[in-house]
Amino acid sequence: MPPGPNRPVVLKVAKRGAIPPFIVMDVMRAANEREAQGEDVLHLEVGQPGTSAPGPVLDAAKDALSSDLLGYTDALGLWDLRHRIARHYQEFYGVSVEAGRIVVTTGSSGGFVLAFLSAFEAGDRVALASPGYPAYRNILNALGVEVVDLETGPETNFQPTPELLDRAARGSPKPLDGLIIASPSNPTGTMIHAAELKDLVEYCRDKGIRLISDEIYHGITYGEAAETVLAHMDDAVVINSFSKYFSMTGWRLGWMVVPRDLLRSIECLAQNLFISPPTLSQRACLKVFDCRDELDANVAHYGENRALLLERLPKAGFDKLASADGAFYIYADIADLTNDSQDFCARMLAGTGVAATPGVDFDPGRGHRYMRFSFAGQLAVMAEAADRLGRWNR
Ligand SMILES: Cc1ncc(COP(=O)(O)O)c(C=O)c1O
Repeated sequence: MPPGPNRPVVLKVAKRGAIPPFIVMDVMRAANEREAQGEDVLHLEVGQPGTSAPGPVLDAAKDALSSDLLGYTDALGLWDLRHRIARHYQEFYGVSVEAGRIVVTTGSSGGFVLAFLSAFEAGDRVALASPGYPAYRNILNALGVEVVDLETGPETNFQPTPELLDRAARGSPKPLDGLIIASPSNPTGTMIHAAELKDLVEYCRDKGIRLISDEIYHGITYGEAAETVLAHMDDAVVINSFSKYFSMTGWRLGWMVVPRDLLRSIECLAQNLFISPPTLSQRACLKVFDCRDELDANVAHYGENRALLLERLPKAGFDKLASADGAFYIYADIADLTNDSQDFCARMLAGTGVAATPGVDFDPGRGHRYMRFSFAGQLAVMAEAADRLGRWNR
């Protein structure tokens, strides 16, 4: 082959970037393809509110578009927004947080990268619940951090406990460096109640384990409200987002509350990785904390969806369900129906038009016998999905 611009070359592709797909995105693509072919698809796969951002947020965005240059902001975010978020802690939880410790991020997804890079070295060991949100594991793996799975089930409400941590710690001569918790969790919707949260905090404090709390589903609860880990531990890392309760997924904005020892490192990482979080979204988000009535009405609507599915799914054969105390997910044990949740969800989509997510997205070891339904959509969609699943001859 003569030298030239089209001469083939085989170049190295880095192994650390070869992480698993986020399966729900693949399911969503398959569902969208069916929809494009004219099929009537019901979306119970993706965890995103079916509502837009509140009206005052949209107005603020329009104002900013016409009046503002929309240049970069500080890497840690607009000072006004950091202050407003700090005030939210006082209003929402009665906890006082310094605005200087708030970091505005590009969704909570941007926050994970900043938190993990600043807190953990390659080779460190970080524990998390399985089933759990897949990006924790996949980002940690890409960064060379060892993920220590805490296999959870209904007996611990699918949440980590000090006993599970002890067992994991005994499995290796190397100590645990971190623990990631999420309450309410994705995919189970289960919560860590106040006394148990305190026990976990004490455990981490005693053992010198860095605690990271993903609080993205706070505000979306159906009984007891979620408690921030900051009520128990000032130097935990908290990650949150405008995506779920605040109904602003595509605006790509989130925040962290970080301990002082990580702050400068996170600032330098944010400067280099992102320069700044999206300015238009930051301007608009200044208004969202004053829209609680509209946001709580969304939560009431999720509550109706939840009640409908908790009543109707068992009648359709899905009768082993996690407690779904918060978020907008129902995690179903489908071991009686299949040993291959990916095949089951594909057949269910083909047979009923109902899209849902196989458990393997959240639990590589045992997810083949679980699946997740998202009830963030409309009530009529949930009712129709329950009808179709009841009629489905699997
Ligand atoms: C538990 C959890 N954390 C984080 C995210 C990421 O959200 P975002 O990057 O939109 O803030 C999600 C999205 O579904 C989630 O379920």
